[in-house]
Amino acid sequence: MQNRQVLFVKRPVGAVTPDVFELRDAAVPEPADGEVLVRNIYLSCDPYMRGQMGESGYSRGPFELGLPLPARVVGQVEKSRRDGFAEGDYVWGFLAWAHYSCQPADMPLWHVDPAHGPISHGISVLGMPGLTAYAGMLKYGKAQPGETVFVSAASGAVGSVAGQLGRIAGARVVGSAGSDAKVAHMKDVLRFDEAFNYKEMDIGAALDKHCPDGIDVYFDNVGGETLDAVLARLNEHARLPICGQISEYDVMNSADQYGIRNFPNLLRKHATVTGFSVRDNMDMFDEFVLRMAALMKSGDVVYTEDIVDGIENAPDAFIGMMRGENIGKRLVRVGEDPTLG
Ligand SMILES: NC(=O)c1ccc[n+]([C@@H]2O[C@H](COP(=O)([O-])OP(=O)(O)OC[C@H]3O[C@@H](n4cnc5c(N)ncnc54)[C@H](OP(=O)(O)O)[C@@H]3O)[C@@H](O)[C@H]2O)c1
Repeated sequence: MQNRQVLFVKRPVGAVTPDVFELRDAAVPEPADGEVLVRNIYLSCDPYMRGQMGESGYSRGPFELGLPLPARVVGQVEKSRRDGFAEGDYVWGFLAWAHYSCQPADMPLWHVDPAHGPISHGISVLGMPGLTAYAGMLKYGKAQPGETVFVSAASGAVGSVAGQLGRIAGARVVGSAGSDAKVAHMKDVLRFDEAFNYKEMDIGAALDKHCPDGIDVYFDNVGGETLDAVLARLNEHARLPICGQISEYDVMNSADQYGIRNFPNLLRKHATVTGFSVRDNMDMFDEFVLRMAALMKSGDVVYTEDIVDGIENAPDAFIGMMRGENIGKRLVRVGEDPTLG
């Protein structure tokens, strides 16, 4: 048995390119006492990983060169030498882009219950991206009936849930994303009130058209020009959960970073800006899973996963996600999912 891995071998400058990664075949590790060998099934492609590819690592510390890329992964226990985990259990954890990962004794793993839905949901709508949207919209955005909520990158893993939670709160929801197919998805599948393609329109003009009464909640996934245009259109006591700044990730800490001009409007409008991390909100996890599972069951929240097959395609899947190829959560399936009929 071979263990194909994707190594992180080069720190990107600007956009991530294929030579940042290298495929390698290694032996499948044998778990030591306290360790769990996981057969990986779904690998997550997350924008925050771009930050960790840089020297500074952004908020989490840089990825080490020459090692399999660390990531959230759902898999199945192949061999266990840890209490509480048995062969065949479905789990998720911070594992690696590889066919197999051996989770060290001091690193946590969590069970994924297939009774709650597809096991991939453990790293999508019922996992980190879902909780990010839930905390961002409910705790920091506090959308109210009749308000206008605007979400950027709104057809993606986090934005698609954030917008739907705004709709469920009774707000009028407007989304932006980078293709007409995404606009159709936001309107027809996610049931947003309005959506626009930010690559085809002047963002300020689009906001004037689709948010004629101003913006009460801005769920920011992208930063840059979009954030600046929103700042000029805030209502009194607007709330801005700052979830991500993806338009800046490739140029972070360089002179190419976008310079925000409309900052003074935050003062004029008595607005609240909250930069937040999902990691600050783990205390909401149990409440979130119960509520989100119920919303999925009732059909009030729908979720799309954009799955690429094959570990050798993981680098392109990540690069494509950063470029906006994905609708919904971008995952890579690297092994058989026995829960699929
Ligand atoms: N605070 C937290 O704890 C936390 C947790 C998870 C995620 N996040 C952040 O949330 C954001 C969304 O993450 P996600 O996992 O849901 O990813 P996603 O939206 O599924 O995928 C990323 C999307 O970003 C868009 N994008 C790329 N470059 C852009 C640019 N220059 N301007 C505008 N949009 C651009 C692309 O769509 P388009 O076609 O629309 O360009 C792409 O599909 C990211 O900023 C991420 O870092 C934060």
